[in-house]
Amino acid sequence: MYISIKHIRGAMAWKRVAAKGSIKSGKSSDFRVNGKRITVINNGGWYAVDAMCVHQEKPITAGKIEGDVIECPHHFWHYNYKTGELLDYLKDIKLETFKVEERDDGIYLDV
Ligand code: FES
Repeated sequence: MYISIKHIRGAMAWKRVAAKGSIKSGKSSDFRVNGKRITVINNGGWYAVDAMCVHQEKPITAGKIEGDVIECPHHFWHYNYKTGELLDYLKDIKLETFKVEERDDGIYLDV
């Protein structure tokens, strides 16, 4: 029996979401892909995490970035954007993370 890699990985696939160079170093931007709102961060590498804060389901995208942490701009909860882990108030809460790459022709998300 043949099973494609896409099926094993839950049908994720790389999608171009933005032009190369459109997210400056130290900045973030968000994208809606396959019904998900995803924050993409360019900060010494490329990272992507579910954009919606678990506190009140507002986007974290415009939050302050320091080190590996993004601060939700609404009530200042903090997340490690590399792991998705919420760093304050509640234990064992993680936002979903995604692979992201900047290629010659754009920024791609694996969603
Ligand atoms: S919505 Fe993010 S901290 Fe409240």
